[in-house]
Amino acid sequence: MFRLGVIGYGGRIHGVIHDVLRRIESKIRVVGIVDPNEESTRKRLAECDKQDAVFYKNVDDLVRQAKPDALLIGTRCNLHTPYAIEAARYDLPLFLEKPVAIDMDQALALEHAFENSRCQVVVSFPLRVSPLCELTRQYIARDSIGQPIHVHAVNYVNYGTVYWEQGYRDYAITGGLFLQKATHDLDYISYMMGSPIVRVAAMLTRGKTFGGNKPAGLICSQCDERETCLESPRNRNRSGAGGNGHPDKPCVFSVDSGLPDNPALSANEDCSSALLEFASGAHGVYSQVFFSRRDAAARGAIISGYHGTLSFDWYVDQLRFVRHHAPFTATEKAGQGASHFGGDQELGFDFLAVMQGTRPSRTPIQTGLASVYACLAARESAETGKFVPVRQVGQSS
Ligand SMILES: NC(=O)c1ccc[n+]([C@@H]2O[C@H](COP(=O)([O-])OP(=O)(O)OC[C@H]3O[C@@H](n4cnc5c(N)ncnc54)[C@H](O)[C@@H]3O)[C@@H](O)[C@H]2O)c1
Repeated sequence: MFRLGVIGYGGRIHGVIHDVLRRIESKIRVVGIVDPNEESTRKRLAECDKQDAVFYKNVDDLVRQAKPDALLIGTRCNLHTPYAIEAARYDLPLFLEKPVAIDMDQALALEHAFENSRCQVVVSFPLRVSPLCELTRQYIARDSIGQPIHVHAVNYVNYGTVYWEQGYRDYAITGGLFLQKATHDLDYISYMMGSPIVRVAAMLTRGKTFGGNKPAGLICSQCDERETCLESPRNRNRSGAGGNGHPDKPCVFSVDSGLPDNPALSANEDCSSALLEFASGAHGVYSQVFFSRRDAAARGAIISGYHGTLSFDWYVDQLRFVRHHAPFTATEKAGQGASHFGGDQELGFDFLAVMQGTRPSRTPIQTGLASVYACLAARESAETGKFVPVRQVGQSS
């Protein structure tokens, strides 16, 4: 039996436990939870956990009384660091949601907490461990394209309205979409390129699509414009533009999603881009766009070396390898349909392996920190208009 202690039992961590871990290993039980919203959490729990799961006021009580074999942190972004710092005190495997921190103070404190910790972390980076990313990395490691010299990565998010209509629109919780979203991409890009990101220049655009003057707290069912608004559930359903069809969806054009007079102060960005320099001397570009819909979805990269070009897109689930100096082009097609392109299942196998002590994490705390440092540099660059050096994990000051 694997006994899990969960801090922040929300939608994502329930999915990881119930739809991922439990499908690999049926002997999984949630034995302790720290979550102030006990009532809604109890409703979310799987039947098999309802009897055993005890709610605790803090992590210390959970660890001492429930005696879990491992901890999982699934709170919203701003609480990942403080809880992970607490978890670092225990010699228990930890599954930690991303981003691992949302500002420099948090990131430095987190790095410090793990300097002498024996806590083994699986950071929730499904893209890095997804089979398609691993396959691409294998091509690069086999020297198929020579040294990777350039990367061009894109993320056209066709469900991006969640960042204006759910809890993610609270900038104080997310810290913006470099940290919320690009943390995955900058992580896998650095992994594929086999080199850390050392300098970033970035730009972002806010307030051109979402956010606006609609009153705080407005929901679609109370809005006079629900017949004509492109974002009302009925119009989204009609156009196939996504959304859950709930009539009480919060308004994406409300002041809650960004201050109309000065959106730069507190709003998520409509889109953002970063120019990346790697320690190897290679460089690349990454862009993320949050207002795209439907078939505009794209997430993947083109990586080039002197001998060839690799390109892949998770939505197409396909890798293409073009040899530059021979008349051959190969395509490898992956099976489709898995959560986070198969990456969640891989994270599940990794976490179970760490619990059993059979192999180390492929996404240890250092990967989460390295990505946060790159994202923080991007956010700072977008604010200042300057190139920003990226702090490296383990750097002395
Ligand atoms: N790795 C991925 O691909 C991926 C995918 C989706 C979400 N996420 C991340 O997962 C995190 C959670 O997202 P979600 O959609 O599950 O959110 P959620 O709101 O459903 O879950 C958050 C949970 O934290 C609880 N909580 C609130 N305050 C708390 C406190 N002080 N102490 C303990 N628990 C507290 C809430 O009651 C809730 O149950 C986010 O940071 C998000 O970025 C990651």
